Amino acid sequence: MFDFITDEHRMIQDAAREFAQKEIAPIAAHFDETGEFPLDTVRKMGALGFMGIEVPEAYGGAGMDTLSYVLALEEICKVCASHGVIMSVNNSLFAHGLVKYGTEEQKQQYLAPVASGQKIGAYSLTEPMSGSDAGTMRTRAVRSADGAHYILNGRKSWVTSAPYADTIVVFMMTEPEKKHKGVTAFIIETDQPGFARGKKEPKLGIRASATSEILFEDFRCPVENRLGAEGEGFKIAMTVLDAGRIGIASQALGIAEACLEASIAYARERVAFGQPIGQFQMIQQKLADMKCRVEASRLLIYQAALAKMASATTGQRYTLEASMAKLFASDTANYCATEAVQIHGGMGYSQELPLERYFRDAKITQIYEGTSEIQRMVIARNLTGL
Ligand code: CAA
Repeated sequence: MFDFITDEHRMIQDAAREFAQKEIAPIAAHFDETGEFPLDTVRKMGALGFMGIEVPEAYGGAGMDTLSYVLALEEICKVCASHGVIMSVNNSLFAHGLVKYGTEEQKQQYLAPVASGQKIGAYSLTEPMSGSDAGTMRTRAVRSADGAHYILNGRKSWVTSAPYADTIVVFMMTEPEKKHKGVTAFIIETDQPGFARGKKEPKLGIRASATSEILFEDFRCPVENRLGAEGEGFKIAMTVLDAGRIGIASQALGIAEACLEASIAYARERVAFGQPIGQFQMIQQKLADMKCRVEASRLLIYQAALAKMASATTGQRYTLEASMAKLFASDTANYCATEAVQIHGGMGYSQELPLERYFRDAKITQIYEGTSEIQRMVIARNLTGL
């Protein structure tokens, strides 16, 4: 039906499905329960090319396109959304920014280890007092007297993968009086003096992914590690988030599909009042609505992926397509998770089945990489031009 999906796309989708079923499915519940970071499977995902799908082969990536990325990510997230977000941040928020804005030297140095999963990449925009209103950050980067470094100070929060990240793209104010136009992006290495990690966040869902604050105290970032021009940081942050939001939409789709598949199976096998519950109209309505929303999410994600692929030649932004996909797919994940738990009744609420994990994991997709409220704002602004 979708003739833009080629045999090559199906190959990476099949490889991701097989890997997820074989390597992640048996451990997902354990890592969710303990909150341990699944470093071994992340490294294996790297070896298979999943950690740098769109990174050109010259920089150690798989050299594939955005459709390959969303198809593979959906399969991973169908089994474990924690592995999915680690993969998504590495691919979209870290690697995509470097591919698009990095110098040749930066790409040579930082892309290959992260694209191959030997090192982990992260992205840090949010601060304790600057979340949705990302242009109001308080962290400061000041050029050193000799001009060779920026001195970074301040606290960033909610950084996915930060407890294990080796390299992070960080956004800080270089000229606060210029507001958005005073933000600059930096590539920082986490083994350097002046960098520290705050406490790991205890979270409702995606518990096997690690999230923490990061702290900078007179951190010396070499000028050659500035990503893009001084003052270009906000645009870089937003452009990279457009790509990231397509990844989170795929994560949400994976969760929604897992909920739907489990619900169909349960509706066929569970008997009540002398018949399979799938014969009751109230269950049928839930299944039908879940299916429509899942397929509509998929179409929005494919549209966004194609728009991103086209933008490589046209230079056109795909902000609208990415926000629509993220908004609808994340609402769908939450709808499907709620209904799946309901269909399963007490078993849906039990840790014996993965439904309650899907339910907890689904929530974050409406919050990170721009809340649903922010996505609606972005979509409406795009429509009205106001
Ligand atoms: N692409 C390129 N440029 C963009 C852009 C985009 N998608 N969106 C905005 N810009 C540009 C605008 O064109 C404008 O440029 P000019 O000054 O040259 O005109 C500039 O950026 C400022 O734009 P706005 O006036 O629209 O800015 P705003 O203050 O009103 O905010 C916003 C816009 C969309 C609300 C933005 O602040 C936003 O997306 N907020 C949410 C932040 C977010 O998603 N945070 C999540 C962080 S990552 C995370 O969740 C953790 C993790 O590790 C996964």
